Amino acid sequence: MFRGLPDQYDRLAEWLSFWQNRRWRAALVDAVAAGEPRLVADVATGTAGVALALRARLGADVVGFDLDEGMARRGLQNVRAAGDAQSPLVARSPAPGAAKSTVVALAVARGEQLPLADASVDALSFTYLLRYVDDPETTLSELARVVRPGGVVANLEFAVPESAFWQALWRLYTRAVLPLAGLVTGGGPWYRVGRFLGPSITEHYRRYPLDWTVGAWERAGIGEVTVRRMSLGGGLVMWGRRK
Ligand SMILES: C[S@@+](CC[C@H](N)C(=O)[O-])C[C@H]1O[C@@H](n2cnc3c(N)ncnc32)[C@H](O)[C@@H]1O
Repeated sequence: MFRGLPDQYDRLAEWLSFWQNRRWRAALVDAVAAGEPRLVADVATGTAGVALALRARLGADVVGFDLDEGMARRGLQNVRAAGDAQSPLVARSPAPGAAKSTVVALAVARGEQLPLADASVDALSFTYLLRYVDDPETTLSELARVVRPGGVVANLEFAVPESAFWQALWRLYTRAVLPLAGLVTGGGPWYRVGRFLGPSITEHYRRYPLDWTVGAWERAGIGEVTVRRMSLGGGLVMWGRRK
């Protein structure tokens, strides 16, 4: 799915979302910041955009995990570009405004099976992950497992607008415009993403409506769950606290 995407991912993720992705990402980082974590896990980190935003905002150490080696390699280039590389997997640099040097480390790993001990991180973010896993409920339990009690868990995901009017426009955009815009801006791989994305979002919420998802967070041991719909309902940021 992600082959052929990494080189243009950072640019096209913004263009094709009308620069809303960066707003959603900022809201996600705000939610994580509320817990004042010192060590954050970012799952499905991709090209490390969220991981770098977390470090820049929080001055926290961040460890990012992604299933796809190509995306993680691109992430590593981005981490290196933001600091001075120390090793193939780890880059260190002072976060802007932070007194201490911080680390962004990246590893290839599945969100369903994180190579972390129980309660080993202060907070966890995951972005555009649950549509790709076979069993969202079990995956949520695994994500919650690694967060210490009281730590923030936060998620960013696409969503289907609630109002009939915006939903109709969203459908038109995702089914007709997005594949063509993907083709024109990024070629074949982005055409395929453009065709995949709308049906993937619709199908995900058909199988796992938002109410179900909030319940699944609770069952996974994440309480105080808050949902924020953004950009006319096309973006969704959710966060809660590990019980
Ligand atoms: C749309 S990208 C988002 C990347 C990044 N979070 C961002 O917002 O820029 C989704 C990422 O999820 C990763 N992914 C998909 N399934 C995964 C899984 N089961 N475990 C870990 N990462 C996964 C993909 O490899 C891809 O890099």
